[in-house]
Amino acid sequence: MGDLKPALPVVLDLGGRLVVAVGGGPVSARRVRAFLDEGALVRVVSPWLCEDLRDLAGAGRVEWVERDYAGPADLDGAWFAHTATGEPSVDRQVAADAEALRVWCVDATDAVATTASITARADVTTPDGRVTLAAYAAGDPGLAVTVRNGVELALAAGTLDLRRTRTHGRRGWVALVGGGPGSDGLLTRRGHELLSSADVVVVDRLAPRALVDRLPASVRVIDVGKTPGNHPVPQSRINDVLVEEAQRGLGVVRLKGGDPYVLGRGGEERDACEAHGIRVEVVPGVTSAVSVPAAAGIPVTHRGVARGFTVVTGHDDIPVLPTGGDHTLVLLMGVTQLARTTELLVEHGRSADCPVAVIERGFAPDQRTTVGTVGTIAGLAVERGVRAPAVVVVGDVVRLGPDWRHR
Ligand SMILES: C[S@@+](CC[C@H](N)C(=O)[O-])C[C@H]1O[C@@H](n2cnc3c(N)ncnc32)[C@H](O)[C@@H]1O
Repeated sequence: MGDLKPALPVVLDLGGRLVVAVGGGPVSARRVRAFLDEGALVRVVSPWLCEDLRDLAGAGRVEWVERDYAGPADLDGAWFAHTATGEPSVDRQVAADAEALRVWCVDATDAVATTASITARADVTTPDGRVTLAAYAAGDPGLAVTVRNGVELALAAGTLDLRRTRTHGRRGWVALVGGGPGSDGLLTRRGHELLSSADVVVVDRLAPRALVDRLPASVRVIDVGKTPGNHPVPQSRINDVLVEEAQRGLGVVRLKGGDPYVLGRGGEERDACEAHGIRVEVVPGVTSAVSVPAAAGIPVTHRGVARGFTVVTGHDDIPVLPTGGDHTLVLLMGVTQLARTTELLVEHGRSADCPVAVIERGFAPDQRTTVGTVGTIAGLAVERGVRAPAVVVVGDVVRLGPDWRHR
């Protein structure tokens, strides 16, 4: 049977309360930072300080009593104490004095006798507030860290449900989450956290749909997916849906393909929400403009080949663009107008021999790349039945991908 010493986990509000830390080394420094993060007032008692603590003392963030621990008077006014002097007899003395004063004390050198223990913690802040998980393994902080890391992995993967169960008086919110180019693995950790916190998910056609399919049944999914030439839900209606759901006090994730601010109308959705006083968080995503070419082995810049790139919609007539050979042009929504776009490119000075790649369905099992030149690509695309979604890359970087070499 292991150590069953009583160990009740509690949450302390240290805001504005004095914590005394005895010892000036790195263990003390780490803990002092944590106390300060919680808004505590901190007094450090030690004849010397490590660099971190010296910085904090120099910045006036902690009070430094520059001498050895001198007895219970050093704990005057403390709500909580921490001792890590590296000298077991001193730590024992601090712990005994704290006990006599009825002040909880962490003795960093005696995991068994200590009256309080610091846990390994994981925090996640959702728009509804903070969730803190604390792991404790008696006498084995390393094991507590392992358990905490497991929880963090689950948070990062979005497998922990963070939806609030007490929703009374809750203020609704909207998060515009960039879902990346459609592959589950390319949603950010923040995206997962918000998806795990939402009551309603308003989803695009090109967002990572597999993640949406795995949401609990209690989450309402509103599909506003557009297909090219077919816009079932107009943008103004999408904006209204976001506002209406948030006004009902719900947490809404607008899960978008790629990055919300790259040809994604994220700015309009944010403005619509803010105009109604709704809190909005915008989470960047991996844009298809860069990641889909990468999935086809094409870097959008490359030393000695391309010094920059421009992303533009291929849906409308393209504006006058940099045409030099050292500049890559990336077109989104460019399939329907490809013939017209290539004509315009030549008119603007791009060579008809300039390489072009069209990458369809990036990251999907049936991803396909068609390569040609400004002069040939439109015909090749028709021949091969190229369809949206696709990213068009114009420039010498196309030569760096495997499809150009093997054409
Ligand atoms: C409305 S735009 C949205 C772009 C998005 N905000 C982004 O940052 O990737 C949609 C266009 O992105 C491109 N696209 C997005 N995901 C793609 C994918 N997985 N494969 C190929 N093209 C993609 C296509 O050009 C598609 O027509």
